[in-house]
Formats: sequence, structure tokens, C-alpha cells
Amino acid sequence: MSSQIEPRVLFTRDEIAATVEQLAAEISNDYRGKNPLLVGILKGSFMFMADLIRLLDFLLEVEFVRLSSYGSGRETSGKVRVLQGLQSSINGRNVLVVEDIVDTGITVNFLLDYLRKGKPASLKLCALADKPSRRKVPVTIDYLGFTVPNKFIVGYGIDWDERFRNLPDICVLEEED
Ligand code: PRP
Repeated sequence: MSSQIEPRVLFTRDEIAATVEQLAAEISNDYRGKNPLLVGILKGSFMFMADLIRLLDFLLEVEFVRLSSYGSGRETSGKVRVLQGLQSSINGRNVLVVEDIVDTGITVNFLLDYLRKGKPASLKLCALADKPSRRKVPVTIDYLGFTVPNKFIVGYGIDWDERFRNLPDICVLEEED
């Protein structure tokens, strides 16, 4: 019999909602009145960003950049490509990067370096999930939702070969007979 790859729930939609609420409370405390610019990394962050900003009831702006370092496989190529950059200046702005998952750290490390060149007033990182066991470059996560094991994570925006982004829970992919 051939084995199939099946998602198994790691964090439920309710756990995600509670965590996003906590992150929103912290971010509100720190950014209310500062008109921050939230920069999401596409595609993975779109769902997290959508839920997060609905809980932030103060003036803010949203931008997306599109980066990619993974091809069609599970391993990062190590080389980040900017598929779509920022549309406006971040000079003097309070910038908060919103990422779905930090794995090797190569993607956010690249983006933070890229954004620093735009001379923001402040630059911080919010990540829904962190997989520290895979880190290749050091990354400081200022607002973190979940720490995840060294397994392939999908759902809530995160894909495997473009699949499973639509799962409402955060799942791990496991082989099943
Ligand atoms: C995934 C994920 C993060 C990055 C994390 O993006 O969304 O952006 O990889 O990995 P790293 O810490 O090892 O760099 P991907 O390049 O697969 O693009 P996607 O967001 O469009 O799925």
C-alpha cells in the first residue's frame, strides 16, 4: 500500500485565535498612536495579517512584500528573491514585519536588512510561529505566537508546495500508510 502525506492538527483555530488576540494586545500597547507600517511577507502571512489587523483599533498602514526562497520542495534554496518590493518610503516610520513562520531565519534576516536601508524610526518583527531547531542565522522575534517542532508545518497560510494554505488550523505533515 502506498503512503500518503496527511496534515495532523498541532494548534487548533481556537488556540490560534487566542494567540493572535494576545499578540494584538501587546502590539496595541506598543504602537497605538505611532501610525505603524505593518509589512507582511507574502504569501504565507496573508491570513495572519488579516486576523491580526482586525484586532488593532488604531491608525496603521499595511504593505506586503513578496519574497521567496523555497522552490517547489521542502528545503530552502538559501537565496532569497524579492518578487515584489515596498511601494512607499519607510523613512522615519515605525515598521513592524509580520511573518508566518521563521525557520532557518534566512527570509526575515534578508528582509530586515533590506528594510534597514530605508531608515525606519523603528523596526521589529512579529512571527506567528518559530522553528528554532532549524535556525541558520540569528533572528530576534519581538512578538512570537507559537514555537513549533522540527516538522513540516502547514495551514493558516503556510504551504507545502502551494498546498494546504487554506487549512484553518496549524498542522504538521505526517506520512500515513
Ligand atoms: C516560507 C515562510 C517564510 C519562510 C521561512 O516562505 O512563509 O517566509 O519560508 O523560512 P526561512 O526562515 O527558512 O527563510 P516561502 O519562501 O515558502 O514563500 P511563501 O510565503 O510564498 O510560501
